[in-house]
Amino acid sequence: MVTNSKASVSTELRCVGCGATHAHAAGNFRCPLCGDLLEICYPAWRSAPPEPVTLKAIWRDRKSSARAADQSGVWRFHELLPAIDDPVTLREGNTPVYELPSCARAAGMDRLYAKHQGMNPTGSFKDTGMTVAASFAREDGFRWVACASTGNTSASMAAYAARAGMRSLVLIPEGKISWGKLAQALDYGAVTCQLKTDFDGCMRLLSEVVKRAPVYLLNSVNPYRIEGQKTAAIELMEQLDWVVPDHVIVPGGNLGNSSALGKAFLEMKELGLISALPRISVIQAEGANPLVRAMRESQGRELRPVQAETAATAIRIGNPASWKKAVRVLQQTGGTVEQVSEVEIALAKAEIGSDGVGCEPASAVTLAGLKKLVRQGFVKSNEKVVLILTGHLLKDPEFTLRFHRGDLLDGDSGAEMLKAQRRAPIVLDASADAVLKTLEAANQTL
Ligand code: F0G
Repeated sequence: MVTNSKASVSTELRCVGCGATHAHAAGNFRCPLCGDLLEICYPAWRSAPPEPVTLKAIWRDRKSSARAADQSGVWRFHELLPAIDDPVTLREGNTPVYELPSCARAAGMDRLYAKHQGMNPTGSFKDTGMTVAASFAREDGFRWVACASTGNTSASMAAYAARAGMRSLVLIPEGKISWGKLAQALDYGAVTCQLKTDFDGCMRLLSEVVKRAPVYLLNSVNPYRIEGQKTAAIELMEQLDWVVPDHVIVPGGNLGNSSALGKAFLEMKELGLISALPRISVIQAEGANPLVRAMRESQGRELRPVQAETAATAIRIGNPASWKKAVRVLQQTGGTVEQVSEVEIALAKAEIGSDGVGCEPASAVTLAGLKKLVRQGFVKSNEKVVLILTGHLLKDPEFTLRFHRGDLLDGDSGAEMLKAQRRAPIVLDASADAVLKTLEAANQTL
């Protein structure tokens, strides 16, 4: 079995199932006693907790530093991360918070904000976790890293492996990831295997591969990924001047991101960096809703895998690895779960686009879910809500083009509702008259 030799002196690994603590993790990052997932803890915080005022000042000062690690929106917060000497960084993080006025109107909110994690170096939130886990892979001397992916993890892993001088192995479901993401993995030099199975099948296969070859596992079962992904929440709080929003809404796939954001808010509260918690809610596609079902059927005690299907391929996941961590976040922050249809996702994606921001389909479930939560009264129109947009619009241009051309969704499923958002390209004779006529016609429509 491959072991990750280094565990920083300041951290230990705790099992989320049986609570046992370990100094080192096995190659599958599971508890050797009960097989559940591990999370990183900082026992030193109990005896000598870092001072919130000092931390905030240090983090602010680093913004003007020329050091690569300080320019990273992840490593700038290294006091809340496992220690490493030489991080592999692409200056990840540093993502903007945008106000979304037309989305606010569509959702019935006074105001609405989005933190756009798609503005990371490879176009998704995965970079914030990958910089940490890839750094530990290199420090532990691994030559190969590997992941199963719906596309974004593989793009991110391939980039960080290339920067770190490591090789990367990607397992993806054939035909079920967007071309943009596949293209990235290829360009960054990954050995890319398209397997005739779904994401969940790729995950099962990879756990076998990791047992039999010295490759470092970079899926979000790797707790170092979760630590890096925490920094989106820390950076968000800094951007909001440490005033906690009422709600944070996040898409749910393998459930690593909701777990990471929740861990960050809980740790920030424990350390006194913030005085309250936001409610963290998780939105899934109706066709890939195992967490929603688990919460509704057993209050999160049991999760039954589903056969996942959605055009939001990033979250086409039926057996999410981090579901127990996500359930804990829902319970500890008072958040909820919701599911949204394919039509609702497509509509929300176009609405986010019309605010000049844009995102990939999986990110748009946040707005679609928010609309439902407002209708249910779980979110009040005057509350402060931050959507986590996880991927860039250009990750999946085919979805966007098909939506605007009108051939994304079958039959009449919500077609009328979607028409107002459709902006199909207009084919014209190459004449100024034709263009001017189109301009005039468009002018009448507003
Ligand atoms: N949004 C996007 C754009 C994603 O790529 C993913 C996951 C999620 C949301 C869900 O996040 O898994 O932490 O709950 N993509 C993974 C991948 C599974 O392989 O790229 P999660």
